[in-house]
Amino acid sequence: MSGQKPGCPKPFQILELGPGRGSLSQDILRVFSHFQSLKSCSLALVEASPYLANIQARNLCSQSHNITNSSSLFYKEGVGLEGIPIRWYSRLEDVPNIFTIVIAHEFFDALPIHKFQKTEYGYREILIDIGEKEGSFRYIIARNDTPASKAFIQPSESRDHFEVSPESLLIIKTIANRLESFGGLALIADYGHCGEGTDTFRAFKKHKLHDPLVEPGKADLTADVDFLQLKESALEGDKVLAFGPVTQRDFLMKMGIDHRYNALEKNASKEQLEALKFSYSIMVDEKHMGKRFKFMSLLPATMKNILDKYPVVGFS
Ligand SMILES: C[S@@+](CC[C@H](N)C(=O)[O-])C[C@H]1O[C@@H](n2cnc3c(N)ncnc32)[C@H](O)[C@@H]1O
Repeated sequence: MSGQKPGCPKPFQILELGPGRGSLSQDILRVFSHFQSLKSCSLALVEASPYLANIQARNLCSQSHNITNSSSLFYKEGVGLEGIPIRWYSRLEDVPNIFTIVIAHEFFDALPIHKFQKTEYGYREILIDIGEKEGSFRYIIARNDTPASKAFIQPSESRDHFEVSPESLLIIKTIANRLESFGGLALIADYGHCGEGTDTFRAFKKHKLHDPLVEPGKADLTADVDFLQLKESALEGDKVLAFGPVTQRDFLMKMGIDHRYNALEKNASKEQLEALKFSYSIMVDEKHMGKRFKFMSLLPATMKNILDKYPVVGFS
């Protein structure tokens, strides 16, 4: 981000929300270790799934154990690269309040949403009901207003169908409050739109599209992130500055993906070159992830003068 402009805070933590298999945190720790930046650093992981937390621990730690003390704010801890302490939390609120680099990669698209549909009576919430066949589910349109349709529909709304994720809006606000009070920065990367998205709720099973209402516990459920809502929620109260969202293509181009590609290309075998070209095109082509996948960052509003002088890399 903006180099060393926030100074060299000690201690500081890297916080990943929803780390999946822990691959991104692994990469971050490896890169930080090249710059000898892991001293006075800890890694906090917010993960709801104990199953995935075990996989993350296997990928990140030389040793780890579960915490049985019920008054503990974290439920697992371990030791990673260069002895860095790693702790697992169920909730962002429980993570220590210190200078934090927050990473959320494909996290917000996994959070719950409410779906709304325009009808002749105004907007109504789409709910899930038990279907006629045993064990089946179906969508229904609420006959009347629901608490969610009263609370989450903006007067300016005009789409036929749209989604709101109140949990996402709360989490981004918590991040903004923490950045203002304790310093740090946040990088959010996800499939998303800027307020124009409509019916984006999907399920994937074994990387294939799947009906979200069939075996719902066995598929990944996702809805594109509404970056406009997320940004508005983050900016309420002027605690942070927001940069982006920008498309993944723009972000990676500004971060110098072509230099990296050319360096890797020079020493690649024929097979490696094929894989390299394929990965490059998946990441930057607009018909793949180049356009739908977006990046946004947040920094404390107190850094405005510095950021005017030294714009955030990847977003300027
Ligand atoms: C789609 S996966 C993304 C994994 C990883 N970041 C990646 O990009 O590959 C979503 C992750 O968020 C976790 N998750 C979903 N809802 C959560 C919640 N409310 N609190 C904490 N973690 C959650 C999931 O268990 C999973 O690790």
